[in-house]
This record gives sequence, C-alpha cells and structure tokens, in this order.
Amino acid sequence: MTLSVIVQLCALLTISQQAASLPGCVCDLTSSEQPFPHDKLSSVEDSANKCSSSITQQKSVELDSLLLGLQHRLPQLEADMSVLEREDDGELYGAVSLQVIENELVEILQLMNKLNSTTLAHSRLTSDTAQQVQDLKDEMQQLEVYDSMQVVKNQQANHRLKRDLDQCRNGHHPTTQPTQPASGNCPHGHFLNVTGPGVYTAGEYPGSYKYGSWGRDPKPEAGKENWYWLVMLTSSNVYSNYVRRYSSLSSLIIGVSVPGNVQIHSSNPTTNTIQGPSAVLYGEALYYCCYYRDAVCRFNLTTKSVTSVQLPKGTRFNSKGNFCHLDECYPYTDLDLATDESGVWVIYTTSQNFGNLVVSRVEEGETPTINQTWHTSLYKQAATNTFMACGVLYATRYVSKDVEEIFYSFDTSTGVERFDIGIQIQKMSGNMYSLNYSPTDQMLHAYTESHMVSYKVVFG
Ligand SMILES: *[C@@H]1O[C@H](CO)[C@@H](O)[C@H](O)[C@H]1NC(C)=O
Ligand SMILES: *[C@@H]1O[C@H](CO)[C@@H](O)[C@H](O)[C@H]1NC(C)=O
Ligand SMILES: *[C@@H]1O[C@H](CO)[C@@H](O)[C@H](O)[C@H]1NC(C)=O
Ligand SMILES: *[C@@H]1O[C@H](CO)[C@@H](O)[C@H](O)[C@H]1NC(C)=O
Repeated sequence: MTLSVIVQLCALLTISQQAASLPGCVCDLTSSEQPFPHDKLSSVEDSANKCSSSITQQKSVELDSLLLGLQHRLPQLEADMSVLEREDDGELYGAVSLQVIENELVEILQLMNKLNSTTLAHSRLTSDTAQQVQDLKDEMQQLEVYDSMQVVKNQQANHRLKRDLDQCRNGHHPTTQPTQPASGNCPHGHFLNVTGPGVYTAGEYPGSYKYGSWGRDPKPEAGKENWYWLVMLTSSNVYSNYVRRYSSLSSLIIGVSVPGNVQIHSSNPTTNTIQGPSAVLYGEALYYCCYYRDAVCRFNLTTKSVTSVQLPKGTRFNSKGNFCHLDECYPYTDLDLATDESGVWVIYTTSQNFGNLVVSRVEEGETPTINQTWHTSLYKQAATNTFMACGVLYATRYVSKDVEEIFYSFDTSTGVERFDIGIQIQKMSGNMYSLNYSPTDQMLHAYTESHMVSYKVVFG
C-alpha cells in the first residue's frame, strides 16, 4: 500500500516537473541559406588594413630624395668633368679635380645602388600588394555569395557614399588641398609644395658646428655660378668671422674647399663680425646680423670691407627676439636675412610691433639701406624660421621631430596675410636653425643640427 502511493507520488512529481517547463515556447527555424561568415569578413578587413599600412608615405619620400640627389649630382659631374678636361695639360690631370670627380663617382655609385635596392624593395612590395589585393577581391566576391542580408552590398554602398562625401568635403576644405599662397610677382607660378630632402650632408666638419647657414649666391660673379658658401658659428655657437666657399655642390659635400675662407676680421667676435645663424650671400657680398648690434652688416668679398644699415629703434637684438617653438627658442635668431628673386630682405621684430614679425627690403648701393618695411601680425615666437620667395614672406613652425610646416605667408605686394598654408617639410633631424630660399634653382637650404639639407620648392 505504502509502496503504491510512493510510486504514484513519483509519477505526479515528474508530471508536474514537465508542466513547469511547458510555458516556454520553442521555435525551430530551418533555413536553406548558409549562415553569413562574419569572421571571414572581419579577417578580410584586417588584411586590407595591414595591406594599406605597408605602403607608407615614408617610402615615396625615400625615392624622391634619392632621385633629387642624383638629379643634382649628374649635372655637377658633367660640369666638373669639363673643368677637368680644360685642366688637361696633355700629361697630368689636375690632381684636385680628379679627386673631386673620383669622389663624385663613388657618391653617384652609392646613390645608384641605394636607388636600385630601394626600387627592388618597392617592386617587391608592389607585387606582394597586388597579390594581396587580388586575394582580398576573391574573398570579397565569395562573401557576396553569402550575402543574403545585403550586408556587404550595403557596406559597399556606404563606402561609396562616404568617399563621395569626402571628395565633396575636400573640394571645399583648405587642409587637404592646400590653398594657393599668394604668388606675389612670381615667374614660376604659385608656391605649391616642398619635396625632398635632396642633399643631406655633414660637410667638411661633421658634427663640429651645430649652428650655421649655407646656400648659393643668387647673383653670382661670372665663373662662380656653381659656387656654394657656408658660414658656421665657430665661436661659442654664436659668432663667426669668415665665410667658407666651395666651387661646387660636390666639393661642399666631400669637404674640399678650394677657394677656402674669406675672412671678415682676424678676431672672433669683434665689431662687424657675424652673430647668429642668419647670413646670406648676394652679389658677392655677405649680409648678416652684426656682432652685438641691431643692424645688418654687408661684407664685400671683393674689397673685404664692411658697411652696415641700422634697423629702426625698438628692434629686438642680441637674442631678445628669437624664433621659438614650445620647447625652446633658437638663440641669436633676432635678425633673419633672406634672398629671393628680387634681392635681399631682413626679417626681425620690434617692440612697437609687439613682437610680431617685421620685414624690410635691404637695398644695394654704396651702403645698404632700408627703404620699405611691412608689419605683419605673426608673433615671432610662434615661428621657427622665415624665408622669402617671389616677394612673399613665409614662416615655418615646428610640428614634430620629423615634420616642419610652412604655415604662414605675407605677400609684400598686396599686404595679404594667410595662416593656412599647410605645406610640410620632412626633416632629417630636430631643429632647423636656418632656412633660406635660392631663387637660382628654387631650392630651400636649411642648416639643421650640424647638417646641411636642401629641399625643392614646387611651383605651378
Ligand atoms: C640591382 O640589384 C640587383 C640585385 O641585387 C642586381 O642583380 C643588379 O645587377 C643591380 N642593378 C644595378 C644597375 O646595379
Ligand atoms: C607635397 O609633397 C609631399 C612630398 O613629396 C607629398 O607627399 C604631398 O602629397 C605633396 N602635396 C601636394 C598637395 O601635392
Ligand atoms: C664690392 O666692391 C666692388 C668694388 O668696389 C664693387 O664693384 C661692388 O659693387 C661691391 N659690392 C657690393 C655688393 O656693394
Ligand atoms: C627708395 O624708395 C623710393 C621711393 O619709394 C625710391 O625713389 C628710391 O629709389 C628708393 N631707394 C633705393 C636705394 O632703392
């Protein structure tokens, strides 16, 4: 009796347990479609990202700079060869020229090899990439087969929309398509871009002098068209008393200064010697900031005499009105001399103009004079350097260790000022202590941490 009751109770218990699970409703959906492979889509996305990050801007900059280097050296080699031929006395070639040319050949060979290996690396990259892109395309096509939910198709449509939107936005936006800076009175057209670095060299005294300036004379004497000049601040990183000359770019790079130094004074520093990294050579005369004065000195390399022009009262000098970025100011950069198609300029700042940049034309003549002056609204300490091209003042700022940006322009012919230039300069090392434009070949010459670097200005 008791046993049968227990059996019934047990039966009741199982029934009630079944009843408790009944309120949930189970639906079994059978689909003829295969499930969409989300994993596969995200792995395709990953590969696409990897693929595009392996093609960096760095790689094209590398090629650019190698090509520019070659472009410089080949004509130079040709010129030096013809010098050598002229020096040929039938038996002996000029020993020095021969050495210069040998060095040039070695350099060109090195460049060619570098170019070859870079090109090889690039073509490998290109074919790898082509294969990867093909693979991605195949996978995407497979995914489309699965795409019953229209996920991929919609994604594609979204991408197209986004691209169109971007293009539309860029068409009106100044940052991606840099606005054209005022061309001033420029025979080459608008200042569009800066490519390079081309030349990058430690020169004759590697690492010895942190500050200096270099370049070529835009108005050279006959026979000195290919000469380069170099001023290194040899005393206390602030002063110099000579300009060193090289008969070609190759001689500057390999450090053979045949013409040697032209000395301003035997003492360094003293009255009328050089202070700060701002010198330029124009018309066989060196223009620079005079030692301990708010004045521009002009040293005539032919007569070895110095004349000068006093800048307005209130001009900041002796390291009181320097170029700066957030972390530091560049010592003794009060006066910045510049050359362009039209002559010599001096860029500085005054108390009257509240520390903003002031630019004046330096006229040639028996003694140099200042005739015209423009006042800008760019605070000097917000800029790291300035240069002139076609009568337009440009200013740079420090973006990072690797990038300097030309961000500002002031057109002296119209007075129009802009802060949205947005042209980047790829740097080889941290700080650019001097930057000057050479109208002869539209190059920018920079002196950075003991190195001489050049860039090509693209006009159009
Ligand atoms: C470039 O490099 C490849 C592989 O190292 C070599 O076979 C070829 O001869 C080189 N070409 C030149 C022009 O140096
Ligand atoms: C300017 O030149 C740099 C370096 O060659 C290049 O990456 C950039 O795309 C150029 N910009 C324009 C607007 O052409
Ligand atoms: C330098 O002196 C020479 C000789 O007097 C003169 O012809 C030349 O014009 C002077 N150069 C400058 C820039 O004044
Ligand atoms: C200075 O400017 C005036 C007029 O602006 C001009 O007549 C004169 O020739 C200029 N002087 C020099 C040295 O260029």
